[in-house]
Amino acid sequence: MAPQRPRIVVTRRIAEPAMAILRAAGDVWSPEPDRALPADDLHKAAAGADAVVSTLQDDIDGTFADAAGPGLKVVSTVAVGYDNIDVAALSSRGIVVTNTPGVLTDATADLAFGLLLNVTRRLGEGERLLRSGTPWSFQLDFMLGAGLGGKTLGIVGLGQIGTAMARRARAFGMTVSYTARRRAAPELETELGATYLALPELLTSSDVVSLHCPLTPETRHLIDTGALAAMKPSAYLINTTRGPVVDEAALATALSSGVIAGAGLDVFENEPEVHPGLLGLDNVALAPHLGSATVETRTAMAELAARNAVAVLAGDEPLTPVRG
Ligand code: DGY
Repeated sequence: MAPQRPRIVVTRRIAEPAMAILRAAGDVWSPEPDRALPADDLHKAAAGADAVVSTLQDDIDGTFADAAGPGLKVVSTVAVGYDNIDVAALSSRGIVVTNTPGVLTDATADLAFGLLLNVTRRLGEGERLLRSGTPWSFQLDFMLGAGLGGKTLGIVGLGQIGTAMARRARAFGMTVSYTARRRAAPELETELGATYLALPELLTSSDVVSLHCPLTPETRHLIDTGALAAMKPSAYLINTTRGPVVDEAALATALSSGVIAGAGLDVFENEPEVHPGLLGLDNVALAPHLGSATVETRTAMAELAARNAVAVLAGDEPLTPVRG
């Protein structure tokens, strides 16, 4: 009798080359039409799965693992962030967790820098003005923004994306400081010309604070009313990591009352909701979680996730495991 093919559940539509990798390794199921599955449906879909390829929208915890059953060997998320996964609960059941670091670094840093340029040069505001049909004419003091050259970028979390953001900032003539759980290697500090600071000093001295730390219990609401008040009134906040790192209500208040100058946000506390206090403000640039959203990057992420799942099913080491 031929050995049974593994059952692979793919929770959201992913790029075709990745689907081909998975189909070669097992019987693939994914929801038709593509949609985020509510917890009950997700649990039902996962029942009997050997591998689950998931996204950041899926709550993957012990209850999920129990619903999937004892055959589940790997949860492979198509994301670098894995705050939606209870890694300890899965590891204790012998389930391998993998993510997709590296392949989305440049795309995410590009988007973060794009948001920074957007808000400091008032691009969204200018576009809204034109689309509204408001009369305007060139004037030497019309819609002046803030330049970046000579300013200081304070990076919170100098991982791969934070480092890529620092390199972009250097190319724009900015000075870089950073805070992180661990100090970077001296060679990297030298390459980036980056100064290590504790968070309070980074907040008070930076012209731009850009968040690149993962969401953990320690970083939830890291940027709250107090942190915002510590920033310069002329400073900008950029968030492309996870929404809950920022207290969004506090940010809306700070932006509307001039506590800081502006913000660029790609992620939100209660996605897909955006705090209503932000929507009417001109000094915030908003994007709908597009950090890694290029064709090339999303394809690379999906392929890496597929290869991780297939490696575990074959009894091999995955390429990019999450260490529990
Ligand atoms: C991630 O990978 O964690 C992003 O938020 C989505 O690409």
